[in-house]
This record gives sequence, structure tokens and C-alpha cells, in this order.
Amino acid sequence: TSVLVLNGPNLNLLGTRQPEVYGSVTLADVEDLCETHGKSLGIKVSCLQSNHEGVLIDAIHDAKGTHGGIVLNAGAFTHTSVALMDAIASVELPVVEVHLSNIHAREAFRHKSFIAPVALGQIAGFGAKGYVLALDALAAHLGTGS
Ligand code: DQA
Repeated sequence: TSVLVLNGPNLNLLGTRQPEVYGSVTLADVEDLCETHGKSLGIKVSCLQSNHEGVLIDAIHDAKGTHGGIVLNAGAFTHTSVALMDAIASVELPVVEVHLSNIHAREAFRHKSFIAPVALGQIAGFGAKGYVLALDALAAHLGTGS
């Protein structure tokens, strides 16, 4: 099985972006962590980050037939994008939603997720470890080693 780890807007700035909120790990660290953890689960992990909604939508479309599921941190598009929600619903791939911060403990506008209704589940508040938990959840859903 292969899994796409998809990161949205501003996550390329991880490490220097509001470290008090998002921690000091960089996107490269997160992607390395995902690839290494994926290996231990027998999953091939591919990583992509984009600041552009359309690129993320294309990546979700292209994941169909290529990947068994998606780990998605859609950044601020989480709270705004009906188009991302529709893309996920259209491809019918299992998606685990991840946020480094606990979006439910932050501003009210971050409590709403357009991803959550079409996701397998949501992991928020555990920093970079959330991606590892998401891969575990996806592996369990897909059947380990499949
Ligand atoms: C985030 C939370 C979002 O509200 C925010 O816009 C982000 C990052 C997180 O990982 O905690 O860009 O998705």
C-alpha cells in the first residue's frame, strides 16, 4: 500500500512559523518522520506540500488509483474549502485529517472543519506526532502490510 501525506498552505514554513503554536520541527522533518514510520508499517509514503488550493485538489484526484489513502493537513483551507471537501468525497479514498495544534482549543473560526465530515477521523493537538498517529490509523484501516 502507498499513502499520500498532503500538506497545505503555510506548512512549508514549519519550524520558523509561530513555533509557540506549531513547534520547531520543519516540514522536511515531518516528511522524514512519515517516510520512516511508513516503512515500519510496510507502507510507501509520498509527500507533497502546496500553498495552492487547486494543486491540492489535483493531488487528491490523482491519488485515486495511485494511493490507498491520504493523510491531510489542509492548513487554513480546512476551515474554508468546500472544494477540498468535494474532492475528498469524489475520490472515495480514506483520509485522516491532521492538525499540529488543537484547533478546537483555538479561535472559533478554527473549530469548523470542512474536511472532518468526509474524513475517516481527525487528529489534532499532538504536533508532528499526529502524522505518525494518522499513519497508524490509516494502516489499521487499510489492513497492515496490505
Ligand atoms: C493547522 C491549523 C490551522 O487552523 C492553521 O490554519 C494551519 C495549521 C495545524 O496544523 O494546526 O495552517 O492546520
